[in-house]
Amino acid sequence: MESARIPKRYDGCSFDTYHPQGKPNSLNFHAQASALIAAKHLVDEYPNLEIGVLFIGPCGVGKTHLATAIIASLIHRKGVPCLFYDFRDLLKEIQDSYNPISQNSELRVLAPVYEAEVLVLDELGASKPTDWVRDTMTQIINKRYNEKKITIFTTNYLDEVTSPSEETLTDRVGMRLRSRLHEMCKVIKITGDDYRLKINNNRGRKF
Ligand SMILES: Nc1ncnc2c1ncn2[C@@H]1O[C@H](COP(=O)(O)OP(=O)(O)OP(=O)(O)O)[C@@H](O)[C@H]1O
Ligand SMILES: [Mg+2]
Repeated sequence: MESARIPKRYDGCSFDTYHPQGKPNSLNFHAQASALIAAKHLVDEYPNLEIGVLFIGPCGVGKTHLATAIIASLIHRKGVPCLFYDFRDLLKEIQDSYNPISQNSELRVLAPVYEAEVLVLDELGASKPTDWVRDTMTQIINKRYNEKKITIFTTNYLDEVTSPSEETLTDRVGMRLRSRLHEMCKVIKITGDDYRLKINNNRGRKF
């Protein structure tokens, strides 16, 4: 579990602690319940599966919760070596590794990411999409795509947007990467309200 680098905040996240929110029979409840079923299914079926998942949805609907629950369960139930990375942190570490003073080599950062049997890349598209960011993201994901390794992504960026001022996932990651994601992942859309606000409101009531 330690080498999987799951952030402390998500330590206790499991399938049992994810409770679909919203009125029963509402679209939000249905989307969250389906996401939970798909996440459990991935663990049940592993290693007999070809593709990972891409959780798409707004803030606080439990995308990172489910992604970490999947790898925690794979580690505990099936002994699969997994790795968690926030994509922004990963890109930052790669950038820092170019610095000769830090004595990091790019490969020292990238080797575990290439080799992890199951990898979570959290917050896809969150970094400002410069050419370097797009090229580096594509290189990492392409490598795992070619090796047919299972990767679990989360993102806030949708494929379709309602206003021209919003950016799509393709705007953020580029066409080539979006195309590969289609092939290497089942897309799971999660809708709903921000659970963090609920935690905060409940806290407020106590004081
Ligand atoms: N349905 C749920 N049941 C229980 N806890 C939940 C649920 N949804 C979210 N949470 C909790 O709410 C917090 C926020 O969830 P999480 O970080 O997974 O959201 P997210 O969709 O990844 O948001 P963001 O897009 O901002 O990264 C976490 O502490 C998570 O455990
Ligand atoms: Mg998240």
